[in-house]
Amino acid sequence: MDGNGRWAQQKGRARTQGHLEGLSAAKRIVKAASLAGIRYLTLYVFSTENWKRTTEEVGFIMALVKKYLRGELAFYRENGIRIRHAGDAGGLPPDIAFELEAAMKETALFTGLQVILALNYGGRAEIARAVNRALAAGEKTVSEKTISACMDNSDVPDPDLIIRSAGEYRTSNFLLWEAAYAEYYVSPVLWPDWTENEFTEALAAYSRRERKYGSVT
Ligand code: IPE
Ligand code: MG
Repeated sequence: MDGNGRWAQQKGRARTQGHLEGLSAAKRIVKAASLAGIRYLTLYVFSTENWKRTTEEVGFIMALVKKYLRGELAFYRENGIRIRHAGDAGGLPPDIAFELEAAMKETALFTGLQVILALNYGGRAEIARAVNRALAAGEKTVSEKTISACMDNSDVPDPDLIIRSAGEYRTSNFLLWEAAYAEYYVSPVLWPDWTENEFTEALAAYSRRERKYGSVT
């Protein structure tokens, strides 16, 4: 969900206002994904590298996350949305970790769209965590299968489509392991400007892709 800062800058507003609008966009897209029958949607909310930002910006984003987790329960219930987490929960501020845990518990039995919040998430860190889980389970060497089985959400299928807003062509440490055969879609539209239309367009572009997984058709 990139481009919140640029969106605010273009409007002569504080970066935090961009994040506020970004939250509205996230809600729109979660709703659109739910209506489209998507089963899993991972939102890259906050990376392991985002702590480098100012205390003010980090604090604002964390406060937004907390508000979203707590305030949207009726919305999750109405739409059967299950909230999950990817990332290092131990490295989150305790109050955020608490809200996250509460939201996951409250929605654990919902069977609609699963929204995975990548929060304090880094792709490399997740791989290292997975290897450590395998070691802790007594494995001497790891296979691809073992690593996949030890990822943060091993029952969640690898992503089919990875959407990047705001026009940057990089992975930014997102789902490195899981993205091996994902289709990428880059849109120049800044995240706060994302509506159902951008999302539908991304899905349409995906449906025109030919997936070969290294084979031939
Ligand atoms: C994405 O928007 C939001 C987070 C990383 C939390 P940015 O804040 O990265 O926006 P730009 O890249 O400065 O425009
Ligand atoms: Mg950015």
